[in-house]
Amino acid sequence: MERVEETVGVWPANGLPATLAERTRRVYDLVAAVYPVSSMLFHSRAHRCSVDVSGFRDGMRVLEVATGSGEMFRRLVRANGKGTTIGVDLSPNMAALTQRAARRKFPRARAHCQAVDARQMPFRSESFDAVFCCYLLELLAAEDIVATLQEFHRVLRGNGRLSLVLIGQNRAAFNAIYRLAGKLAPEFWGRQVEQRVPELMERISFRILQDRTVRQIFYPSRVLVARK
Ligand SMILES: C[S@@+](CC[C@H](N)C(=O)[O-])C[C@H]1O[C@@H](n2cnc3c(N)ncnc32)[C@H](O)[C@@H]1O
Repeated sequence: MERVEETVGVWPANGLPATLAERTRRVYDLVAAVYPVSSMLFHSRAHRCSVDVSGFRDGMRVLEVATGSGEMFRRLVRANGKGTTIGVDLSPNMAALTQRAARRKFPRARAHCQAVDARQMPFRSESFDAVFCCYLLELLAAEDIVATLQEFHRVLRGNGRLSLVLIGQNRAAFNAIYRLAGKLAPEFWGRQVEQRVPELMERISFRILQDRTVRQIFYPSRVLVARK
């Protein structure tokens, strides 16, 4: 049988360079201070849906990967008052912003955010009940998507849930604009991968439990929840 890493070799890259993590880190470091506006305008509805359908309960040990400026992270910390919430982001400025805002709003919460690369995370295997990750996979090279999904699988406990939010590919006009944006600034926009990721998740032994589409203004998102 074909190895899962080999299956992504045929994915269209839309001009995305194979190794672009360093450029991505720099560009997200630069935009960290203004990023909350974009997250609130285009992502907040999908964030809410992702928490609602995730099966998440207060008291869990939760990991959010690619927190950005921390809007979803604060949502998780607020809902997880009895638990522990850990966040990571490749950009040190994003991670610091997330950490500062969560500390200020929830000073007594067990919550911590640090700069970490999702492709290789410094956490023990099977140490989280739930992993959340919104709008990251678009930014990763195909083989890094596999590595990252495998990391999610590794750090989740048996029956733990992965909640993913991806940029939707169900609107032709939006897809055309996104393709152009991705060509102009691939390190910031990446390329859409929503239609290919579910199959990959299943190959990595995730079982998809929920599959929703959400729209905010003109911006489409797909929310997936899967069990390890
Ligand atoms: C499009 S933003 C999404 C932010 C947030 N999740 C949201 O929903 O608004 C993508 C984020 O992924 C982070 N990122 C990119 N590559 C990463 C990696 N390899 N590991 C961890 N975070 C990464 C970027 O720094 C950025 O903050």
